[in-house]
Amino acid sequence: MKQEELWKLLGEMTLEEKAGQLIQLDGRLILGRGDRQTGPETENRPDLLPGSVLNFDSAEMARELQSRHLSEDRLKIPLLLMLDVIHGHRTTYPIPLAMGCSFDEGLMEECGKMAAREAAACGVHVTFAPMMDTARDPRWGRIMETCSEDPLVNGRMGAALVRGMQGEDLRAGDRVACCVKHFAAYGAGEAGRDYNRVDLPENTLREQYLPAYRACLEAGARMVMTSFNTLNGVPAVASTFLRRVLREEWGFDGVIISDYNAIGELMNHGVAEDEDDCACLAMGAECDVDMMSLVYARLPDLVRSGKIPEAALDAAVMRVLRLKQELGLFENPWHGADPETEKRVYLCEAHRETARRAAEESAVLLKNEGILPLPGNPGKVALIGPFATDAHLNGAWSRPGAEEDTVTLPEGIRQVMPGVELRTARGCSAEWNVDPSGIAEAVELARQSDWVILTLGEAEWLSGEGRSRTELSFPGAQMQLFREILAVNPRTVVVLFHGRPLVLTEISRTAPAILDMWFPGQQAGPAMARLLWGHANPCGKLSVSLPWTLGQVPLSHNRLNTGRPKPQPDTGVFPFTSSYLDAPNLPLYSFGNGLSYTEFVYESLETDREVFSDTEGLTVRIRVRNAGERPGKEVVQLYVRDLVARVARPVQQILDYRKILLQPGETQEVVFRVEEKQLRFWDAEGNFLSESGDFEFSTGWADHLLHTKRVQMTKREAV
Ligand code: GLC
Repeated sequence: MKQEELWKLLGEMTLEEKAGQLIQLDGRLILGRGDRQTGPETENRPDLLPGSVLNFDSAEMARELQSRHLSEDRLKIPLLLMLDVIHGHRTTYPIPLAMGCSFDEGLMEECGKMAAREAAACGVHVTFAPMMDTARDPRWGRIMETCSEDPLVNGRMGAALVRGMQGEDLRAGDRVACCVKHFAAYGAGEAGRDYNRVDLPENTLREQYLPAYRACLEAGARMVMTSFNTLNGVPAVASTFLRRVLREEWGFDGVIISDYNAIGELMNHGVAEDEDDCACLAMGAECDVDMMSLVYARLPDLVRSGKIPEAALDAAVMRVLRLKQELGLFENPWHGADPETEKRVYLCEAHRETARRAAEESAVLLKNEGILPLPGNPGKVALIGPFATDAHLNGAWSRPGAEEDTVTLPEGIRQVMPGVELRTARGCSAEWNVDPSGIAEAVELARQSDWVILTLGEAEWLSGEGRSRTELSFPGAQMQLFREILAVNPRTVVVLFHGRPLVLTEISRTAPAILDMWFPGQQAGPAMARLLWGHANPCGKLSVSLPWTLGQVPLSHNRLNTGRPKPQPDTGVFPFTSSYLDAPNLPLYSFGNGLSYTEFVYESLETDREVFSDTEGLTVRIRVRNAGERPGKEVVQLYVRDLVARVARPVQQILDYRKILLQPGETQEVVFRVEEKQLRFWDAEGNFLSESGDFEFSTGWADHLLHTKRVQMTKREAV
């Protein structure tokens, strides 16, 4: 359908039909069946003919929703069908926070392609992903859903997902449009409590929280979802400031959708008196689609009464129609929905292999005192802990029942190491109940075994939406299990399964090896086995800081020096310094950190000049050698510190990174180009600028910077 035809169509629509295009209903309510619930229960509204529907489980349901709608819609305008596809659809891969630890955009793009292929077959047109909320507070359960604490890493991984899911042509039956969320700064909720207030100075908002969303829009994401939180007192769905950023500064002319029921919740926030007020505020902030609050059913009367200009309604409707046009829905309302295609692509071998590689590449080896990889003939191996036989290894935002497709840890070990003499014992749960009754049996098994694989973490329902915690502990009797297992068998490898960063301080003191697998998805078993026995070499790097204690939170690597920095090394008590009496300042495990089974030697960091101008930029060369006996991948990271600026700058900021493969003995030189615009920052007056002066460039990882070199940038004086 051409643009002029869309205008003609708009001209034929009644006010009720226009309002309908801006209303999104839940497919479960319409059909009276379905497993996906992602918001508060409400009553169905059969009197409303929506423009879009979210939440359905199959191509059959998608086709039924569309055909029922088209039979009722006078103008035959097809539905937009939307669904959360956060880390895979039927084939699940690791949670986004784990994918961030892969630092591998190509892999993320491949996962996006895979997820889109399966989601499109199920009838999805638009997915509510990627979630790009920078997060530095692990008390917040949705930290699992974003890729990193760092805006650069988050944005690059999110943009890769957009490229993978959208491809080059949204009409293709195996592509879906992306809706980047939650705009904005949902991850900065006070005290890590979900949906809580966010208060940020504008320069911090712009520097740390907005770039990742923008990166996804620059990659072509077609939709933006507003967030539940207030930003400096104004709920995001009613924020004209955020809309100015999107529409005027960034030039985004796509659809903006509210989060689930968020427009109606303006009354709970206390910023709207009634539903009319809610609708006027949201429309005034150009929120085009009302997800499930149904407040937009009042738009026709509000336009008739002159409270909302019809032009505003038309503009919103046209944005929705244009997206339907771009997806080719007027010509093919089914898009990719096809039960036969579902059967063919769901869990196909290629997808399972992608998911397994993703699980391997996002795992982070945190500690290894020479006991990994395990020997090929390990004798008796005990697989112990709450995840030893559990299939719930997908994490939040996996479709209901995803565990039925999970290859469990014992199944994975038997696939990869069929000769291993393996026995399992759960020991205790990873939930609240402190029932130690299973620990004695597990300890006895450990005592009789040559090796122990001890799985610890938190149950998958303890992170995700509405899953904030006030502790970062291992729930239940897990630490008792850990202590008693270590006491009887020191040849114990700890493998972690969790959604949020947890406090590993005690475990890190005594466990000889720790492999962090987050929630790795359906190929958890084979991936873990291949990593533990060295068929795959761990290469993940932390995309989020792991705290020494909850009291350090919020915590991130790009911290300021303060006027009274604590002397390094980060131990002891230093009065009158920015420090704690009872804990270090630094995380237990820092951003960018992760071990390998081989050894990488960072030989040098060189720059092509000692002084560079803002117009010519700088070239940085980093030489890395694989000094070990096996091939390995390494994420070579470039950090910068702006030593003097009118706004205090971080002591370390990741500027770029590149993942490379090195054969044993091989040396590679990684070359980074640094442009002046990468060194800009937001000052307190709202200017985005860089300043001449000294910069230090380093490699290594956060808090462990190597080969630091000072270089000066000069700038032409403004005339
Ligand atoms: C939920 C989430 C959002 C999701 C939406 C639709 O409340 O906040 O991330 O996309 O509702 O399921």
